[in-house]
Formats: sequence, C-alpha cells, structure tokens
Amino acid sequence: MKKFWSGLGKSKLRREKVVWREEARKRAALEAVKHVQDGFIVGLGSGSTAAYVIQEIGEKIRLEGLRISGVPTSHQAMMLAVHCGVPLTTLNEHPQLDLAIDGADQIDRDLNLIKGGGGALTREKIVASAANLFVIVADETKTVEKLGTNHTIPIEVLPFALPTVMVKLRELKGKPVLREGGGKVGPSVTDNGNFVVDVDFGPVDDVKELDLQLKLIPGVIETGLFVGMADVVYLGKPDGFEKLVRK
Ligand code: 5RP
Repeated sequence: MKKFWSGLGKSKLRREKVVWREEARKRAALEAVKHVQDGFIVGLGSGSTAAYVIQEIGEKIRLEGLRISGVPTSHQAMMLAVHCGVPLTTLNEHPQLDLAIDGADQIDRDLNLIKGGGGALTREKIVASAANLFVIVADETKTVEKLGTNHTIPIEVLPFALPTVMVKLRELKGKPVLREGGGKVGPSVTDNGNFVVDVDFGPVDDVKELDLQLKLIPGVIETGLFVGMADVVYLGKPDGFEKLVRK
C-alpha cells in the first residue's frame, strides 16, 4: 500500500515538471520573438520549443500586420508555418537571413549547443549560419557544464557511408547507435534522405576539436555540435526567464 501511494506522488511530481517546462519554453519563445521586426526574413527552427516561436510569429503577422517571411529548417517547421499563416521563402531568394530562432538539446556556458534531437540538424545549422543573429529558446534543464554529459551527439550520415562511419566513430572513442524510425521499421530518415547516428562520447572537453574530427570523416554530412554559433539564449525558468549573451 505504501509503495502504491509513493508511486502516485512521483507521477504527480513528473506531471508538474512537464507543466512548468512547457510554460518555461513558451516564455522563452515569446521573449525571443521580440527580436522579430517588420520586413525580417527569419529562419524557423524545429522541435517543440521552436513551434511556440512559429505560432507567435503567426500571431504577430495576424494581429500587427508585420511583413515577415520564414525559411523552415524541417518539414515539421514548414507545415506549422503554413498552418500559422507565416509566408515561406528559401535560401535561394534570401541566402542571408536577419534572424534565426531555434531550440536546443544541450547548452554549455559558452553557448555551444547540441542539436538534432528531431533529426533536423543539417538544415538547422545551415539556416543558423545564414542568420545575422542566431537565438536559442529552451528551458533551463537544457544547460550543462560540458556538452555530452548524459546526452548523445546526433550526426547525419550518408546511408552509403554508414558502416565505415560507424568504425571511424568507434576509433574516436564514441559509442554510436543508428537512430531507429518512429512509426516505421528500420532507421530514421532525415528530410535530406540520410541516416542519423547518435554517438555517446561522454562529457566533451573540447567541442570544437571533436566537431572538426567528426567533419573529417567522409560520409558525415553534419554534426549536432553547434560551436560558437548561438548569439543569444533565452532560458525559460519556473518563474521567469534568463537571457544569456555570447561573449
Ligand atoms: C531538432 C532540434 C530541436 O531544436 C531540439 O531537439 C530541441 O527540441 P525541443 O524544443 O522539442 O526540446 O535540434 O533537430
């Protein structure tokens, strides 16, 4: 009987954590959207926190009549933007963007990131690199001392190269696992037709060096390490938000 009640207590705590995290993510997103100005071309990130950003941009367009166009980083972002009435454009028309706003899986004190939980890392990195200002939205549970602590690093891999890339990742002391698809049998396939490998390197001392090593492997399309890219991070907290700016 005692166990039964303590189990209930735990699930209530878990529920409360989920609720505050959602509220915190939303707060961070609303704050980040204040960077959006009339006429801006904005990179639209992927994931649940970036979804709040897209919804809020749609509201701004609807209520304030702002002229904004978005470059989506994934099929998910594209469909949501259409649903929210955010006009879309491409890097062909706008190779340089005013702003990009996206989520993150882990954030260190130098604002280096792990991204790619949703498998959109390659387009996310390209769009971020095209933006004059790259803003991250997340809740405070995403911050860590060292990237890779209790978290894998996603890597997008050309399917043809997968077996060789797996060997090379093990040579770099990583533990790679091919990401399985949800709702389908076999591997997860990115919007670019590639595979995602999640690699456990443990806490990483030098993220720039690791990123370089990974990019040297033939068949690695992109890594989920975003080093020195984020300019501003809005971290949602249980009772507010914190703004971090890259030094
Ligand atoms: C997708 C991403 C996401 O931005 C990242 O996984 C964070 O997602 P969420 O806001 O749902 O926690 O990089 O590839």
